[in-house]
Amino acid sequence: MCGIFAYLNYMVPVKRQQILDILIGGLQRLEYRGYDSAGLAIDGGQGECQDNILIIKQKGKVAALQQEILEQKDIDKETPLLCHAGISHTRWATHGEPSPRNSHPHRSDDNNEFVVIHNGIITNYKDIKLFLEKKGYKFESESDTESIAKLIKHLHSCHKNNGVTFQKLVAETIQQLEGSFALVFKSTHYPGELVATRRGGPLLVGVRSKVQLATNAFPIIVSGGASQDGTYPDGKTVHPLMKQLSSDCTDGSDAMEYFFSSDASAVIEHTKQVIYLEDEDVAAVCNGKLNIHRATLDDSNVRELITVKMELEQIMKGNYSTFMQKEIFEQPESLVNTMRGRLNYEKGSVVLGGLKDHMGEIRRCRRLIMIACGTSFNSAVATRQIMEELTELPVMVELSSDFLDRRTPIFRDDVCFFISQSGETADTLMALKYCKEKGALNVGITNVVGSTISRETHCGVHVNAGPEIGVASTKAYTSQIATLIMFALTLCEDRISMTDRRKEIMRGLHELPEKIEKVLLLDERIKEIAEELIHERSLLVMGRGYNFSTCIEGALKIKELSYMHSEGILCGELKHGPLAMLDPGMKVLMVCTKDRVYSKVLSGIQQVIARQGRPIVICNPDDNNVHDMAYKVIEVPQTVDCIQAILTVIPLQLLSFHLATKKGLNVDMPRNLAKSVTVE
Ligand code: G6P
Repeated sequence: MCGIFAYLNYMVPVKRQQILDILIGGLQRLEYRGYDSAGLAIDGGQGECQDNILIIKQKGKVAALQQEILEQKDIDKETPLLCHAGISHTRWATHGEPSPRNSHPHRSDDNNEFVVIHNGIITNYKDIKLFLEKKGYKFESESDTESIAKLIKHLHSCHKNNGVTFQKLVAETIQQLEGSFALVFKSTHYPGELVATRRGGPLLVGVRSKVQLATNAFPIIVSGGASQDGTYPDGKTVHPLMKQLSSDCTDGSDAMEYFFSSDASAVIEHTKQVIYLEDEDVAAVCNGKLNIHRATLDDSNVRELITVKMELEQIMKGNYSTFMQKEIFEQPESLVNTMRGRLNYEKGSVVLGGLKDHMGEIRRCRRLIMIACGTSFNSAVATRQIMEELTELPVMVELSSDFLDRRTPIFRDDVCFFISQSGETADTLMALKYCKEKGALNVGITNVVGSTISRETHCGVHVNAGPEIGVASTKAYTSQIATLIMFALTLCEDRISMTDRRKEIMRGLHELPEKIEKVLLLDERIKEIAEELIHERSLLVMGRGYNFSTCIEGALKIKELSYMHSEGILCGELKHGPLAMLDPGMKVLMVCTKDRVYSKVLSGIQQVIARQGRPIVICNPDDNNVHDMAYKVIEVPQTVDCIQAILTVIPLQLLSFHLATKKGLNVDMPRNLAKSVTVE
């Protein structure tokens, strides 16, 4: 949704120019999360004098903010600052149009005493605003976030300079907030300090230190905090590291740098050591020390410092023109990574480590429910049939928002799958909370390690497609399908009657990367087809059976990237309405591969031709039936029926990419969309 990035250096001299570069660099990595405006706040003043906060904001992409910074000639960019805290944000508008006024950071007052960046939505902001307006606060934007900046200033003034800590103020502030958020605060009252907190929005802290840290576990301080003698109010002794972390810095050996971010991809070029914050954590850096506070303890009394495995090359474009193109072409490799260490073709086994301990419970369940949004939902559609066949259980597929709207009945013996590339999608998260309350077993299928869904579910599988930066999901989609098929395989491993079918599917998965390579060779041909379709008003994508998922996913890709109308239509429904749209001018693409519904799709093609349609058909090689009828064919290798949709969707990923590129549109950041939608 929005991207948060903050950088704090302590006892490490860094020039303002470098600080600005680090902040801008972080925002660029996060831009896929939201990109209609951007802003940052650093210490103002000349030389080392850091007596005020300078806010710079701009509408548009991060590049526009960068330009704005270049034009600010009166900032002293050269003097090194030994200790400094800077915050920055890239926005995807929810409250108020994209404009510098509505962008973050938001401020408490004209003197910028408190500034804040926010990802999420504050649902009670109108009440807070009304309350504060009565107290004389003047609001300057339409953003819900501004109420947070003003509220913290109000609470600060209530303490009447009695030495309240920044962390305590933030803890008091969030007690008044309803909704979802990840927040980072900065203040002139607390120079060189940052406080970050979350409820529902992702947030992590990257830690960089020249010296080895004493431990990898950061203890949590329960509110009320530790007393001077190192004991908590309940008499328990403070963790030894705590004393060390809390002690004042005396020399330069305590040099530390911290990076707060909504996503690890913005941090890994600086450090691989990160702490994922949990809901209600208040992480405060004061005197170069990081402390994590909470009002009450959760399951753990520490937050682990984790080494992120992501490599920088994984989030760089390399030789490709866009991230989306790179991600489409990475699919032979990303699918190998999805199956690595899980599917052993020679032994005929599939092991999903993240589910091992729950397999008994899953096998005893009454129903499987797959819940997701967007492309992730389409991966559920793609695998529903094989799940039904191999598990012999009823399988429901649900769009998270609709699932919640209906307050769908859920029982303790249901197994609910939450499929999400990002692991942060608000609707899917809410559905997860709902199913948790109902007592179901919840399984996460996510691509982002450490994401909220992967942490909040009982068990799960990471699809391991590698970081996906392009807003339109491609490689994560095909990896989700492969993961769900592997799940279905694990569930039927003891069924003798299914041995041959299992073997056939495993062989199909094993051969998949090589077949994808062949599909990718179609790129030039698809580029030509895109040329031909570029001025069309609409494209209908039709198919049935396993390929129906390709129709809806292909149409979604075309819509989101090229802004052309496109609709995925189930062939079986043709005569119940869609046929009325057909005339010689309507462009139709059909998916017809050699599976159980092949002859039915052939008859669909005939129906289209009878209405003077000229369908382009995605089919298997040397299919004379299709060749005789189709206007053009796109041939993809044949594979096992339940895997075929992985191969048929790739031409449509490429088609949407070429349509958008030829129209001169931004492929990685389509208008009005964001990669990770963390608001309802
Ligand atoms: C957004 C993205 C889509 C994505 C959907 C679900 O709408 O633009 O590409 O499919 O969210 O995201 P998730 O991270 O839950 O898979």
